[in-house]
Amino acid sequence: MVSFLVLYGTGEGQTAKVADRIVDTLTARGHDATAVDAGKTPLNLTVDDFDAVLVGASIHGGKHQPAIREFVTSNREMLAAKPTAFFQVSLSSADEQGEAQAAGYVEEFVEETGWHPDRIGLFGGALRYSQYGFLKRLVMKQVAKRALPDVDTSHDTEFTDWAEVEAFTADVAAFVESRLGVTPPVYNNAEDRE
Ligand SMILES: Cc1cc2nc3c(=O)[nH]c(=O)nc-3n(C[C@H](O)[C@H](O)[C@H](O)COP(=O)(O)O)c2cc1C
Repeated sequence: MVSFLVLYGTGEGQTAKVADRIVDTLTARGHDATAVDAGKTPLNLTVDDFDAVLVGASIHGGKHQPAIREFVTSNREMLAAKPTAFFQVSLSSADEQGEAQAAGYVEEFVEETGWHPDRIGLFGGALRYSQYGFLKRLVMKQVAKRALPDVDTSHDTEFTDWAEVEAFTADVAAFVESRLGVTPPVYNNAEDRE
């Protein structure tokens, strides 16, 4: 069994949802996984308490959450000594046209923090107009109309491909298991674990 830290930053909760799915997938594979919201203070975490680390963040105004950028920068050396992965949630990953933009955000993040994760996952996010204030809702509807003209902006839309999230998690888990020389006990459901 491997202990995984899944540290994430989120604005309206989509990255938290992705982190929860990652935790569920790792747990079903027989590992121990803990999701931690970097926005909740105090963030008194020791990377060294975990065998492997996944860090996730969403994009708001072209940037990842400052708490994530700061955590990764100050823990860069400890992260470099472990198997790690980064996942990003954004509107740019909602369709193929945004691919270069999404990759650009990651490039900037790697340059700024100096951290080079072993695996990277890019996931489409969600537009939750119902949770935005008046001005944000207006701006985001305009942004969506331009970026995703086929999408109906009259209601909330989730673009996350959950099969992709699970496939990414399985790939990360296989990489970590092989790097740490661990054979995972494979559980298909909670009852098998009892
Ligand atoms: C105010 C605001 C700004 C955003 N800016 C960007 C952006 O610059 N690029 C992008 O690809 N997505 C952008 N998005 C889309 C978010 O990344 C997407 O809604 C994601 O699901 C947010 O995840 P979260 O709820 O975990 O914060 C923005 C969303 C909001 C609400």
